[in-house]
Amino acid sequence: MKALVIYMSVHHQNTKKVAEAISKELKAKLVTVNKFKTIKKYDLIGLGSGIYFGRHHPQLLELIDKLPVSNKKTFTFSTAGLPQLRIINHYSLRKKLKNKGFQLIGDFTCKGYDTYGWLKRIGGIHKGHPDNEDLRRARVFASHLTNKKQ
Ligand SMILES: Cc1cc2nc3c(=O)[nH]c(=O)nc-3n(C[C@H](O)[C@H](O)[C@H](O)COP(=O)(O)O)c2cc1C
Repeated sequence: MKALVIYMSVHHQNTKKVAEAISKELKAKLVTVNKFKTIKKYDLIGLGSGIYFGRHHPQLLELIDKLPVSNKKTFTFSTAGLPQLRIINHYSLRKKLKNKGFQLIGDFTCKGYDTYGWLKRIGGIHKGHPDNEDLRRARVFASHLTNKKQ
């Protein structure tokens, strides 16, 4: 199965670490949203970014509008200050993918170092995340994706 991972990581490069761990496990091509060209050659596509104001990065969301209608397999991922809100945080991206016909076969999130706004004054939250355990969990998540039929 040929996999592609597309990501956007702008705050502390937190999601970049997760994207690298997942793509390594899947032997996937890894690209940023800005460098993305086509999904044509791929059977499985992963999309992820940090969470900004309750959703994925706007440029990642906009990218879905440019994709062709397709029933290819996809999965979503993120790092966030509030990863416990994964279902809310991932809602917009997953809805867009679903509306384009894509299959959604996985969803992963973990803590990401967050110094946005007033959090900066207290040194941020989740310093050091994603950590080795987060990245191990990301690899385990990725290893299960290739066995999934639906
Ligand atoms: C402008 C901004 C808005 C953010 N909004 C949220 C949010 O609504 N919910 C959340 O859980 N985390 C939020 N965060 C924290 C980021 O999601 C978190 O730090 C993430 O790991 C950043 O990933 P990145 O380093 O890959 O960009 C926000 C961070 C920034 C800079």
